[in-house]
Amino acid sequence: MGENQELIRAAIEAMGYAYTPYSGFQVGAALLTEEGKIYSGCNIENAAYSPTNCAERTAFFKAVSEGERHFAAICIVGGKNGVLTDYTAPCGVCRQVMREFCDPKTFRVILAVNEENWKEYRLEELLPKGFGPENLWEA
Ligand code: THU
Repeated sequence: MGENQELIRAAIEAMGYAYTPYSGFQVGAALLTEEGKIYSGCNIENAAYSPTNCAERTAFFKAVSEGERHFAAICIVGGKNGVLTDYTAPCGVCRQVMREFCDPKTFRVILAVNEENWKEYRLEELLPKGFGPENLWEA
C-alpha cells in the first residue's frame, strides 16, 4: 500500500468519528509527521456553532499537543452524511494553521474521494503569499 493510500484510509476512518449534528457534513483528516507517525482528526460541531473545530485543526492540535512540530502531509476527506462524492478542500483558518507549522513549499495537502481518486497540492498553492511565523522574526 502506498503512503497516500495509508493516509486516505486513516482519514476515512477518522471521518467516522465526526460529530456533526448541525451540518451533517463529516470530515476526516490524517496528518503525517516527518518521522512517519499519523495523527487523525474529525470535525467537532457545537450548538453555539462558532466553537466548531475542523478535522484538520483537530489533527494538528492533537499532534502539536503531544510534542510534534515537523509535518510532511495531510489527507482530507469529507462529505454530507459521510458519503464521499467530491474533494473537500481545507478552509482558510485551517490553511493558516498549516502555515504556522509547515513549510509551504514542501508540505503536501492530499484531497481524496477514495483510495484511487486523490489530488495533491503544496501548501503554497492553497495559501499563496501567506503570513507566517517568519514575518514576526526580528530584523
Ligand atoms: N469542515 C472541516 O472539518 N474541514 C474543512 O476543511 C471544511 C469544513 C467542517 C466544519 C463543519 O463541521 C462542517 O465541515 C461544515 O462546514
